[in-house]
Amino acid sequence: MATKARFLLAAAAAACVCLSAVASSAFDVPIVAFEERFSPLFGDGNLVRAADGRTARLLLDRRSGSGFISSDYYLHGFFSASIKLPKDYTAGVVVAFYLSNGDVYEKTHDELDFEFLGSRWGGQWRVQTNVYGNGSTSRGREERYLLPFDPTLEAHRYSILWAPTHIIFYVDDTPIREVIRHPGMGGDFPAKPMAVYATIWDGSAWATEGGKYKVNYKYAPFASDFSDLSLVGCRVADPAGLTLTRAAGGCDDEGGLLGLMTADYAVVTPQRRAAMRAFRARQMTYTVCYDAARYAAGPFPECDNSDEERQAFWAWGESKTVVMKTRGRGRRGRGNRAATTAGAARGRTAVASA
Ligand SMILES: *[C@@H]1O[C@H](CO)[C@@H](O)[C@H](O)[C@H]1NC(C)=O
Repeated sequence: MATKARFLLAAAAAACVCLSAVASSAFDVPIVAFEERFSPLFGDGNLVRAADGRTARLLLDRRSGSGFISSDYYLHGFFSASIKLPKDYTAGVVVAFYLSNGDVYEKTHDELDFEFLGSRWGGQWRVQTNVYGNGSTSRGREERYLLPFDPTLEAHRYSILWAPTHIIFYVDDTPIREVIRHPGMGGDFPAKPMAVYATIWDGSAWATEGGKYKVNYKYAPFASDFSDLSLVGCRVADPAGLTLTRAAGGCDDEGGLLGLMTADYAVVTPQRRAAMRAFRARQMTYTVCYDAARYAAGPFPECDNSDEERQAFWAWGESKTVVMKTRGRGRRGRGNRAATTAGAARGRTAVASA
């Protein structure tokens, strides 16, 4: 009896998640089964696949984090997942959904990231987006945002559009960042085939308030659910050789790149731009574009600055308190990147609850 009741509750909860996932995404993209396009990357026992083939749970415990990787490399595409982040105390925990070719190009790798940084305060995760091209980690293009919802309560869709001309990061159907390729970016714009990764790991050294708050394994295991994975891109047979092979619904069929670039999700309509501006003015806590302390020579050529964003940014004072931290040599091995001081984090907390 008790078992049956629990089962019904679980079924009802699952149905809700499905409905909200559908409702929250305006994009008409095919969902791929995990087995079809992904393989385990690390942390064997901590990668738990659901029987339906559509959901993979990544766990972090004292023993290990975990992750999976796409079976193919892609040169451009639209990459998307519904992600539900770990609940409760998650300081130091990092969940990432990203594109990279760091395993192929050690010194000149490209990378596009969603990084989710755990929190001492339950649902108050921060989201970071990164853009690196041809090993440009010393010219990091990071941004951070607070979410306008609690990302631990239900799954939300996070998507990356990577076209030869521009990059868009989406949270549900709101674009939160657009990087238009500027000639001045040179090799800093990602231009080599990348694989898709999802990982959870211990980022105690930097993730939460500049490393002040570490992972507390009393709250382990930390569980993040990835579902409704979507890969619409040009599959590449040999990542170093750029040989294209056929792929379903991608840009590898004739005229396909144009198809990708004119798809609904590749176009920032005036309505979407307004939503993006509103999100950035309200939710963004850090962007390299206004960080005069870190980049004294001025903003990057592709920065599309707005007075409203800049004023909000300066009011919060992050440009004054950003310090560089060296991340430990982990699986994703990479150089310097920005982290913030406890003072800046307190500023964010005040903004978040205002
Ligand atoms: C990428 O970096 C390598 C090594 O620094 C350099 O030789 C090459 O010209 C760069 N490529 C681009 C497109 O900037």
